[in-house]
This record gives sequence, C-alpha cells and structure tokens, in this order.
Amino acid sequence: MTRYYRISPENLFPEAFEAAVQAIERGELVAFPTETVYGLGADGLNPRGVERIFRAKGRPGDNPLILHVAAVERAEEVALVDSRAQELFRNFAPGPLTLVLPARKHVPSITRGGLSTVGVRIPSSPIALELLRRSPVPLAAPSANSSGRPSPTDLQTVLNDLGESVSVALDGGPTTVGLESTVLDVSTPTPVLLRPGGVSLEELRNLLPQVVLPEGEGQLRKSPGTRYRHYAPRVPLYLWEPSQGANFFDRFQHRGLSVGYMGLAPCPVQDTLEILFQNPQHYGRELYRTLRFLEERVQVIVAEMPLESAFGRALADRLRRAAGEEGPKGRVK
Ligand code: TXA
Ligand code: MG
Repeated sequence: MTRYYRISPENLFPEAFEAAVQAIERGELVAFPTETVYGLGADGLNPRGVERIFRAKGRPGDNPLILHVAAVERAEEVALVDSRAQELFRNFAPGPLTLVLPARKHVPSITRGGLSTVGVRIPSSPIALELLRRSPVPLAAPSANSSGRPSPTDLQTVLNDLGESVSVALDGGPTTVGLESTVLDVSTPTPVLLRPGGVSLEELRNLLPQVVLPEGEGQLRKSPGTRYRHYAPRVPLYLWEPSQGANFFDRFQHRGLSVGYMGLAPCPVQDTLEILFQNPQHYGRELYRTLRFLEERVQVIVAEMPLESAFGRALADRLRRAAGEEGPKGRVK
C-alpha cells in the first residue's frame, strides 16, 4: 500500500516527511516532486534500496542514478567537489543542474552504474529540499516513470507507472520546469554538457566558457543514459517545422489516421486534436503530460520542432529522443 500525502509548499506538514524518511531508512521507495520532474527516491547508499529503483523502473543496470542532497556540504560527503564545481553550485544550486563528479568510495557501485563518477544535484523545489534536509542519507532518484516512457510531471502519472512499488508518495502538484535537469560532467578537465536542461548552455558558458557539447562515441559512452530510447509515447511521433508546410500531414490524412498536434504555431491542417503552447517554456513544462494525453486519443502525434535557442535546446533534445532520433542531425522520418 502506498501512503499518500498532498502537500503545499506553504504547509510542509511534518508527518508526511517523517513517513518518507522512515521509508527511506527501511530501503523503500518514495515518490517526490522536484522543480523538473517527479523523482523515485531511495537511500542512495543502500544497495538494496537502489536495486528496488532499478527493478521498479525496468531500468538497465549500467545507467547511473543522480544523488540528491540539500546542500553543497552534503554533496562533499558523496563526491569530490573541487573549486570549479563549488563555483557552479554557488551559481546554479539549488536548481536544475546535475554535476558529474568523482565519487567517494562508499557510494555503492549500483548507484554509479559501475562508473567511478556520480551525478549530484541540489533541487530547488521546497518539498524536495525539506525531504532532503530531513533525510540522513542522500537520495538516489531517477525520474519516476517506467524506463523509456515520458517522465512524470505530476503524481498521478507516477502512480499510473509505478504505483505498487512506491511506499510513500508526496504530491506537490504539477512541476514547474517540466524537463529534467542539465547534466554537466565536470570530472574531466574540459566540462561536457551530457544532457541539456533547465540551466542552459549559454548560462553555463557565462561562468565556464570552455563547456563543450558531447561529440562522437567516447563521450556518448560516458553518459549511459543517452544510449537508450527515451520519453517515447505509445503511438508514432513525427517532428515538423513550419517550413515543411501543410503537405507534411498528407501521409496521415490519406491513410485515414487520427492526428494529434502540439506546438507554438497553429496546425496548418484541420481535423487534428490541436494543443498549442504560449512559449517554449510552456511547451517544455507541458511536453511529457501532452505526449501521454495525446497517445490515449490519436493514432499519430506531430510535434512542432522549436528553434534551438537557450531553453529550446533541451526541448528539441527531448522531442528528438521521444521520436526515436538520436543525434542533433537526426532526420525527420
Ligand atoms: O531533473 C532530474 O535530473 C530528475 C529529477 C528527479 O531530479 N532526475 C532524472 O534522473 O532525470 P534520470 O535517472 O532519469 O536521468 C539521469 C541522467 C541519465 O541520463 C544518466 O545516464 C545521467 O543522468 N547520469 C547520472 N549519473 C551519471 C554519471 N555518473 N555519469 C554520466 N551520466 C550520468
Ligand atoms: Mg529519466
């Protein structure tokens, strides 16, 4: 049975957090909101708890987890935080930035996916921070979805995907960013942006001009998560740019398929289930929820591809992966 607590940031009632911490100490799983997406948390130093995360999600064992902590001093307990990483945390934490750092020896191998590094993040959601302040251990927490599915941005989605395995669920309402954190590898001399997210490449380069995007095999291998298909809806997803015009939709209409459309520009054809967003931030916040909404109602989804400026980079990355295209040069099928 899942114990469920509805929490508002103005009223962080202690019973909910006490129940969550007790579950964590027993090696059980806790669902909680962050500003990006909901996390499925366990004691990151307890291999049995971490094993439960992998089993619940059906996650490949070589895909490492992020350790969540309340403050930089707690990050130092699990990783080597050099002056460059300190500076990054000073500027962007709490917030949607994960730093990949050399791991301390006592971080279990299963948490690190067998690597010598560990991802560490200080989320900014008041509910996540309260949980982490009260927890005596760092929380290993991937997004709380079944592996490969769109990440959950509300608790109902978590329970639909993983209900039975969650001991305590903290419901803080829908998340505000909606796309996962930026993952920056600072375990090497040149920092590598492994996953674009809520903190943009431009913001990172203002502080660290030498940040690079991953290039080629070596670096892709370093971020195991990028090898797997992600965020996929249950029906085919096609990416569309306004320059491709209305003809793009002929192939579906000729075959009599029902089409769901989402984007910033209005859909150029009629008879689609159309969902429009106000700006790229709004699109990002609603992306996963909208994929799950449309897959229940149409046979094909068409998503407008945003321009790649700042926040658009993370959104474009998630859309490409959801459509099953890997690199930035992937072509529309
Ligand atoms: O916003 C987020 O980061 C959310 C919330 C819950 O905090 N968490 C999240 O976790 O997205 P997950 O497990 O779904 O994605 C973590 C990503 C994966 O791509 C993983 O491969 C990468 O971070 N990662 C974690 N540790 C790593 C490491 N030591 N080296 C390289 N990549 C790592
Ligand atoms: Mg995930």
